[in-house]
Amino acid sequence: MDLQDKVAIVTGSSRGIGRAIAFRLGEEGCRVVVNYRRNKDLAMETVKAFEEAGGNAIAVKGDVSNYEDCRHIVDETLSQFGGIDILVNNAGIFFAKPFIELDPQDWEHMFRVNVFGMFNMTRCALPHMLEKGQGVIINISSIASSIRNSRCIPHPGRVAYAASKSAVNGFTLSLASELAKYNIRVNGVAPGLTDTDMVRSVPNLPERAKKVPLGRIGRPEEIAEAVLFLIRNDYITGEIIVVSGGD
Ligand SMILES: NC(=O)c1ccc[n+]([C@@H]2O[C@H](COP(=O)([O-])OP(=O)(O)OC[C@H]3O[C@@H](n4cnc5c(N)ncnc54)[C@H](OP(=O)(O)O)[C@@H]3O)[C@@H](O)[C@H]2O)c1
Repeated sequence: MDLQDKVAIVTGSSRGIGRAIAFRLGEEGCRVVVNYRRNKDLAMETVKAFEEAGGNAIAVKGDVSNYEDCRHIVDETLSQFGGIDILVNNAGIFFAKPFIELDPQDWEHMFRVNVFGMFNMTRCALPHMLEKGQGVIINISSIASSIRNSRCIPHPGRVAYAASKSAVNGFTLSLASELAKYNIRVNGVAPGLTDTDMVRSVPNLPERAKKVPLGRIGRPEEIAEAVLFLIRNDYITGEIIVVSGGD
């Protein structure tokens, strides 16, 4: 896929992995929608940095767990850029809590953002991809999901997060087979520990990093590179790439 002037929505791209993905797509010539939930200043900084680098981006506020907000994100994209070619469902939350302490509100919150968010955005964007006869959807999963359970170091307190990201995998593979005939590809990237705000609360992070086979945690840019690879290659669909330093 030639990315020049393509329109990409990257959810949760005011910071972290989403920001790196947005920048990478901008470097390739995409027009990018930088979605954020709360942090307008950071989102505007990202857009400004884009513009200074000669790119074209807009910031759009919206909570992906809310269907109406997702409709708004898509409507803004259409009115500013006239279409949608790429959707990266990156926005996500993480918290660790032993299962016995999880209450239904915790469970719902995790699924509202990580799973409903992906559904909401995809459901709102898809009609426009179908109309155009092409599109790419990338979902950001995690090695905490079922994809590599056998090789994961056990992490107590991850039941809700792991279940939500396993749902991301099932959604990705199933939707890929449903949409292939419409020339719409659906893939995923499953990062391991990556250097963002999300992992700064992980206890013993330096110790944990040493246990990664490659001896360090990942950089957001390394996740973005895998996303770009999956977007570019027109013959890959229903694939989930693990980017985890061997974890
Ligand atoms: N970092 C890791 O080690 C790691 C590992 C595996 C998978 N992942 C996955 O990678 C993705 C990005 O993680 P990250 O580490 O970059 O996280 P992060 O640093 O915490 O950033 C999260 C981003 O998502 C946005 N966001 C959160 N909830 C949202 C919502 N309901 N609606 C819209 N935007 C929302 C935040 O916006 P605001 O700034 O406005 O709050 C922010 O831009 C997530 O899906 C995460 O599960 C991360």
